[in-house]
Amino acid sequence: MVNAIITGTGFYVPPRVVTNDDLVREHGMETSDEWIQQRTGIRERRFAADGVGSADLGLAATEMAVADAGIEPRDLDMIIFATLSPEHCFPGSGVYLQDKLGLTAGDALRYVPCLDIRNQCSGFLYGTQVATALIRSGQHKRVLLVGAETHSHALDLSTRGRTVASLFGDGAGAVVFEASEEDRGVRGVWLGADGSHADVLSQPLWDISRFPFVEVDEQGVGHIPPSMLFAHMDGRTVFKHAVIKLAGALMQALGETRSTLEDIDLFMLHQANKRINEYVASKLNIPAHKVPHNIERYGNTTAATIPILLAEAQRDGTLQRGMRIALAAFGSGFTWGSAIIDW
Ligand code: UT7
Repeated sequence: MVNAIITGTGFYVPPRVVTNDDLVREHGMETSDEWIQQRTGIRERRFAADGVGSADLGLAATEMAVADAGIEPRDLDMIIFATLSPEHCFPGSGVYLQDKLGLTAGDALRYVPCLDIRNQCSGFLYGTQVATALIRSGQHKRVLLVGAETHSHALDLSTRGRTVASLFGDGAGAVVFEASEEDRGVRGVWLGADGSHADVLSQPLWDISRFPFVEVDEQGVGHIPPSMLFAHMDGRTVFKHAVIKLAGALMQALGETRSTLEDIDLFMLHQANKRINEYVASKLNIPAHKVPHNIERYGNTTAATIPILLAEAQRDGTLQRGMRIALAAFGSGFTWGSAIIDW
């Protein structure tokens, strides 16, 4: 049987560090290091420079992942790009990444298909299911999955936007999935969604049911009110559903693979809020040392949190060949998912 194994990981975070105090000092946000750390565990996050977008961050992460896999970008059969902060409304960020990888001209020319995934915090899990299915079906041999976000350019960094803006940061993670006869790799992915909560965490920007879809003045300039321009969130509702769905998704993954908690070496959970993950771990009796975090350094990088975690854990030796790991994420939509991977 053909398995989808991860042969390369990579990550990139922009160099500019923004501490909780910087949000107060530089942006005048009425918040405090104490408030943010107590509620979320976040100490600092990274912000990309003006002119740098999600495909740029994704490029750096991809270069590391492809090198780690020992292949060239032109060896890829498919690019899957998960983001909620794409360069534009359309086309998706995948084609911009493909171009930046040098696949559209010269010796490396290869018209690798590109697919964008719009599943926010669970984008990496949804992408993992697609990549695994493409490989297991024999359709493709090598699939790149990137999660990359440039949140900072679309955050309301004033006090009005603090509930959302204090949580998010920029970054990218990438993995290469390859077809293999080895008895390891992705054992399963379990996904879910509940669209009745679609507006609880969203960034509408426009309403396509309206004619015109944004208000346009006599000069043809569109006007978007802050309530549509920036993401908004009912934090308590998200928190409540997140703990239930994350715990359920993990239990499902364990049940479907007949794994016990002891069989799982690491639980790589989406980094939305350290308290959410600690709560889930305590409810399921998962020891803290099996639940790595990097939210204190990067904040919530949405589609990028899990691939960044994987890439860092592989490099610092936390994640080793032969381990069985569980992945889980929950976010806007609501959408969620879990996976079991034998590394
Ligand atoms: O990956 C995306 C998924 N997102 C999540 O998983 C987030 C889930 N939710 C949460 O993590 C928490 O709900 C938050 C950390 C976002 C908020 O914590 P909370 O304890 O639920 O606070 P709250 O939203 O109920 O707000 C309490 C107060 C409000 O003030 P009033 O109305 O009581 O006067 C907020 O305006 O805290 C205020 N507040 C802040 N104060 C200082 C909200 N954000 C901030 C802030 N600094 N950054």
